[in-house]
Amino acid sequence: MTALFNSDLKEMAERSVLCWLATADDSGQPNVSPKEVFAVADDEHIVVANIASPGSAKNIHINSKVCLSFIDVFAQKGFKVYGVASDVKQGQTEYFRWVEPLRMMAGDRFPIQSIFVVRGTAVEPIIAPSYRLYPRETTEASQVQAALRTYRVKQEVSNV
Ligand SMILES: Cc1cc2nc3c(=O)[nH]c(=O)nc-3n(C[C@H](O)[C@H](O)[C@H](O)COP(=O)(O)O)c2cc1C
Repeated sequence: MTALFNSDLKEMAERSVLCWLATADDSGQPNVSPKEVFAVADDEHIVVANIASPGSAKNIHINSKVCLSFIDVFAQKGFKVYGVASDVKQGQTEYFRWVEPLRMMAGDRFPIQSIFVVRGTAVEPIIAPSYRLYPRETTEASQVQAALRTYRVKQEVSNV
């Protein structure tokens, strides 16, 4: 059976500083917020640290369907993951199965209240329109250069 999360998705998740987690309440009202402490846990699960996300937690308890997206803002590529989430709390036996990749990222200063465990059901790539509209002139390197200008990031000159 092919894994839902391929190596491209795993690499892009590592390169993405944030993910955006979308949930909805029982009326269908969407809610979306950024989460920095997240990781691909295996071939079909993404874990997200609930540090300060009462709205997402509340929604997940009402409606487990979620969508999560992340992009490398410089390459301007990423993925959208549709899935079903559970809210795993400290004290539940499965907590220790999921917490490991998040603990290092959160450190002691950001206590983890619970873990949103997202089991992916479908994935879709996200790419900036330039890749599709102007394929001959758009490369990952050209997008990185454009994004560096957009975000006004100065690159250090390395002698290595
Ligand atoms: C850059 C950034 C990173 C964040 N990372 C996290 C995170 O990893 N986990 C978390 O629970 N909240 C994180 N937050 C805070 C939530 O996004 C914020 O508290 C939000 O209002 C939660 O909304 P919700 O309760 O509707 O989920 C982050 C916020 C920012 C701006």
